[in-house]
Amino acid sequence: MPLIKPVGLGGSVVVVTGASRGLGAAFAEALASEGAKVVICARDRAGLDSVCKKIVKNGGVCSGHVVDVTNSTEVSGFVSNVIKAHGRIDVLVNNAGAVHRFGPVERISEEEYSVCMRTNVDSVFHFLKSVIPHMKKMGKGVIVNVSSGAGRRAHANLSVYAASKFAVEAFTQAVARELEGEKSAVGCIALCPGGINTGMRAAVFGMEDALKQQSPESVAAVLRDVLLGKVGVPNGGDVLIRQGAVVEVSDNLSK
Ligand SMILES: NC(=O)c1ccc[n+]([C@@H]2O[C@H](COP(=O)([O-])OP(=O)(O)OC[C@H]3O[C@@H](n4cnc5c(N)ncnc54)[C@H](OP(=O)(O)O)[C@@H]3O)[C@@H](O)[C@H]2O)c1
Repeated sequence: MPLIKPVGLGGSVVVVTGASRGLGAAFAEALASEGAKVVICARDRAGLDSVCKKIVKNGGVCSGHVVDVTNSTEVSGFVSNVIKAHGRIDVLVNNAGAVHRFGPVERISEEEYSVCMRTNVDSVFHFLKSVIPHMKKMGKGVIVNVSSGAGRRAHANLSVYAASKFAVEAFTQAVARELEGEKSAVGCIALCPGGINTGMRAAVFGMEDALKQQSPESVAAVLRDVLLGKVGVPNGGDVLIRQGAVVEVSDNLSK
């Protein structure tokens, strides 16, 4: 598959979901520092405000919006408001995510299953439906779905999380093929980071383990390089990231 087109980040409009903390916050900060106008969403108003405040203090542009990404009405309303306010969305980063307690499948509750699937999969579906028609109209744009190492190879005791991330990979590949058929310059790729030092990692494996993982900033630097075209990624492909470095770029659709 052809490589996704680089994005001139200066003045571009970038939407990052789940950016009230963790990896999403690092994505927002890294892309804002390249001149992107960053629009972030999550449920925690205070977290969003603190991320925006830091970005603005460093000379960037950021606005934070309370959105539950599992709610299709909230997502479509948010996307229309971004387009009304900025006229465009150049990059969408589907980052919001949730995990469940570490344990075998029979001990995972239906509620945990539902939260994980709704946050990791339904949200991607809602955002794809809202943003793709707009990007097609513009004739360009990049969608980045945040998968995981677990989206490439399932781990024991994280079965539902792995299933949700396999679904994210499936959306990425199918949508890339659909966009390719359109002959548009809209691309869709996935990032597959290994463990990252965020609250999610600490919640599952403990703080001591989290501190040994790659930093969210190092993963965000990889996304910046991908968008700038310094790391070429084929449409529908994914990027495996460990210890802040690109370990492999897969051209899944040409195999
Ligand atoms: N940490 C790791 O080791 C690791 C490794 C590989 C991939 N990932 C992936 O990286 C992404 C970011 O994870 P993280 O480690 O930064 O996790 P995190 O620290 O737990 O942050 C998760 C983010 O998602 C948001 N979110 C969760 N549910 C939401 C909802 N219903 N509506 C809107 N926002 C929601 C949270 O904001 P609110 O609570 O304010 O809504 C928060 O901003 C996820 O997709 C995760 O699966 C993480």
